[in-house]
Amino acid sequence: MRSYAKSIALYDRTRRTLAGGVSSNVRYAETPGPLFFERGEGARLYDVDGNAHIDYVLGNGPAILGHAPKPVIDAVAASLAQGQVYAAQHPRETALAERLCRLLPGIEVVRFATSGTEAVLMAFRLARAFTGRTKILKFEGHYHGWSDQAYVSAAPPLNEAGPADSPVPVAGSLGTPSSVLEDTVVTGWNDLDLLKRAFDRHKGEIAGVIMEPVMVNGGPTEPGPGYLDGARNLCRENGALFICDEVITGFRAGLRGAQGRYGITADLTIYAKAVAAGFPLAMVGGRRDVMDTLFDKGVMHGGTYNGNVQSMAAALAALDLLEANDGAIYRGLEARGTRLMQGLAALGQKHKVPMRVQGLPAIFQCFFTDRPPPRNYREAVACDRDKALAFHTALQHHGVRTKQNAKFFLSTAHDDAIIDETLAAADRAMAAIA
Ligand SMILES: Cc1ncc(COP(=O)(O)O)c(C=O)c1O
Repeated sequence: MRSYAKSIALYDRTRRTLAGGVSSNVRYAETPGPLFFERGEGARLYDVDGNAHIDYVLGNGPAILGHAPKPVIDAVAASLAQGQVYAAQHPRETALAERLCRLLPGIEVVRFATSGTEAVLMAFRLARAFTGRTKILKFEGHYHGWSDQAYVSAAPPLNEAGPADSPVPVAGSLGTPSSVLEDTVVTGWNDLDLLKRAFDRHKGEIAGVIMEPVMVNGGPTEPGPGYLDGARNLCRENGALFICDEVITGFRAGLRGAQGRYGITADLTIYAKAVAAGFPLAMVGGRRDVMDTLFDKGVMHGGTYNGNVQSMAAALAALDLLEANDGAIYRGLEARGTRLMQGLAALGQKHKVPMRVQGLPAIFQCFFTDRPPPRNYREAVACDRDKALAFHTALQHHGVRTKQNAKFFLSTAHDDAIIDETLAAADRAMAAIA
């Protein structure tokens, strides 16, 4: 039995001075409580009690190259003596912007920010300024950060969310002004008919439609055939901007994100997380005519840490690895992720536990259900969440750290030996919950 006594004691102590003992409410969900880590290296994390964890949380996505990837930290270390923030431009920003515009689908111009939450807010402002409209349409179960404007119906309790074919917007937090709900239209994802009906109900009012092109936060689910294309076309027909939130899928669904994977192009895209392999960096990019309103129409965007030296150095070094041989590193990542997904599914069958492993090889989840695969948030939350938590807890006992809903993020540091070790641990964990 692993001990977490030091983490538990540190949490008790921390709560006296750090609100709730954590720096993000998401961390409350950890079991047996928020864990404290000392070090990360490659695919592993080491906690203060001396437990090693094969880490499939990866900072909720950023650590695409594993923890402390040497080429990235060397580049950042070399940049440290040059300073951190200038409140002025520097050549690394030019180099990174040029590379991203060359690489990413539909990205004619980018603007750097620091967190995904604020980059989403920039995209909302751009869409409103460009179209002269106020409403943003978003989808149930899609998370776009914790701001008032975006943290609506990200994980709504179904008893508050209204009917599946016409959901009502649900504020995710106390303290959200009701005006936000008036400016937010919510509908179900992966269903073009629902989207069309939402547009019809709000003719001429919707500035932009934002989605995770692969639903990840509400349970990793790929878009159905033709859905992304259809959604983009509906946006065009209705004069709204199509906004892809690739904060998770960017540099994870493939070198060119979900848009590269499915062959579509958004008007605006938000990237963050994996783009700088663990350093804080987010960006909005897309159509020049929309992005240029930051310059010629007085649309405001600022931020002290935007384009800071270390995040730029980290992203440039990460791109050297990710882009080499047109993303060869992703072929290995996909192969190992696929092997892990298939291995976990086989363990479910072996132990007679009804379970579906769903998502993409670099980000997937074990859904405990004997029903067909979930296609949207409501179907995902209908799966057995207690079983998922039990599997997560059993995995943690055997040295494998996943999200509490049995969601796995993979990195390029998860090599074949790590996958084998994970499957051996999962065999024991599955036996424990069967
Ligand atoms: C899809 C998506 N968008 C936006 C965000 C917010 O990003 P950040 O946590 O950097 O503010 C997240 C964070 O998990 C995310 O998953």
